[in-house]
Amino acid sequence: MIKLTELSDSFHPVKPMTTYQQFLAKYPSYENTKKIDELRASDYRRLDQGEHIYLDYTGGGLYAESQVRKHQQILLEGTFGNPHSSNPTSQAATHLVESAREYVLHFFNADPAEYDVVFTPNASGALKIVGESYPFGPGDQYVLTFDNHNSVNGIREFAHTKGAEVTYLPVVLPDLRVDESMLAAAWAKARPGGNNLFAYPAQSNFSSVKHPLEWIARAQEKGWDVLLDAAAFAPTNKLDLTRYKPDFVPLSFYKIFGYPTGLGALIARRTALKKLHKPWFAGGTITVASVQGDKYYLADGHAGFEDGTVDYLNIPAVEIGLRHMEAIGMDTINERVKCLTGWLIDNLTAMRHSTGAKLVRLYGPASTEARGGAVTVNFFDKAGNPIDHRSIEEAANKVNISLRTGCFCNPGAGEVALGISRLELDVCFHGPGHEYRLTLDDFRLCIDGKSSGAVRISVGMMTNFNDIQAFLKFCEGLLG
Ligand SMILES: Cc1ncc(COP(=O)(O)O)c(C=O)c1O
Repeated sequence: MIKLTELSDSFHPVKPMTTYQQFLAKYPSYENTKKIDELRASDYRRLDQGEHIYLDYTGGGLYAESQVRKHQQILLEGTFGNPHSSNPTSQAATHLVESAREYVLHFFNADPAEYDVVFTPNASGALKIVGESYPFGPGDQYVLTFDNHNSVNGIREFAHTKGAEVTYLPVVLPDLRVDESMLAAAWAKARPGGNNLFAYPAQSNFSSVKHPLEWIARAQEKGWDVLLDAAAFAPTNKLDLTRYKPDFVPLSFYKIFGYPTGLGALIARRTALKKLHKPWFAGGTITVASVQGDKYYLADGHAGFEDGTVDYLNIPAVEIGLRHMEAIGMDTINERVKCLTGWLIDNLTAMRHSTGAKLVRLYGPASTEARGGAVTVNFFDKAGNPIDHRSIEEAANKVNISLRTGCFCNPGAGEVALGISRLELDVCFHGPGHEYRLTLDDFRLCIDGKSSGAVRISVGMMTNFNDIQAFLKFCEGLLG
């Protein structure tokens, strides 16, 4: 038997681990991302100075002070004119625009002989180019997953108008991934010799599911052109266009590095761009256009798709932003987001009310495997009733937490996650007075008390442990 005195002599009480130590014990690789903490302290000071808990990185990325300064310096030192001329100021602008274009290809490891970059106002602008120009015809096919952003869904309207068939591939609860056994049947629909377009997000902006990039080559082998929406994927993952070769890649730059807004790109295979039939012409897109001859000749490659004057004063900031991302390192960003997302999910899904009822229901994968940093949930009270996502946002606003609520322009994933059926939607959309107009309040009445949206907390490259802890503390305040 051990005597008490012996015990006290040999007993050095072990200090309980701090929460941060517990986090590191579970996600040790977070330590390797420390340079981001240093960068946040120097280049993103306004975040902590303003006491912001920013958790809407899928909505928009944050810019560094240095990006703005470098861009400002270019503008203050140079004189730039409209790039559609050959005068010196025009050439100076052209030089910067073309340098940025090359840098986009370099950043995504795309062979310039194989890929081209069309600058657009945003990812939606890139998607509209594909939608309005893809040569759909009767019997052609547009296949897309349920969890696409509305700007990808919208392409179906062009497909319908031109007589193509539109098929949605469902995503399945609880993880909201595609049931792969359905892919073969969908791809088998390709019209031989026809125009068949398959569209999916590399990362869903609703569930954060990362769909396999291996689908690209498999679909192409079966006769599909592949549109890979990289808008939510590119900010925290390396997209290597030498390894994976989608035909069309739309994205927005502000989602990757925050500044500038108003610029995106359609990165497209040169062969795929050639296949597009642009339905009109505009300034800057033609080699020759004639009024009397009623004829125009579209310019080759990106020039044919950049309507009017490109945003030549902001495009140089794209190169600055991409270099900034490279200096941090996409692998470091990816690792950091993974660690913080894992910790957020672990703790959020473990929260229970005094009644034992769960605080949240998660829509999407509960592990960090093949998922990104957006965590989408709904909150429930202690009796298990859903709490309206709008009131969660209002409460978060009061404590300076920026998050996103609603369906994030991703209705398909929302409908599956929230259990809204095709029948309910049909009844709603064909109800009296609903032919042309439906407000969100009308829609809420239609779905009879079901949640019409969710809360998305998205972790990004500048998120730190304190941000996550602050959000978890906010959630503890919702426990009853
Ligand atoms: C996956 C995805 N695709 C497309 C878009 C559209 O991007 P933008 O609004 O910048 O055009 C978004 C925006 O949230 C998105 O998350």
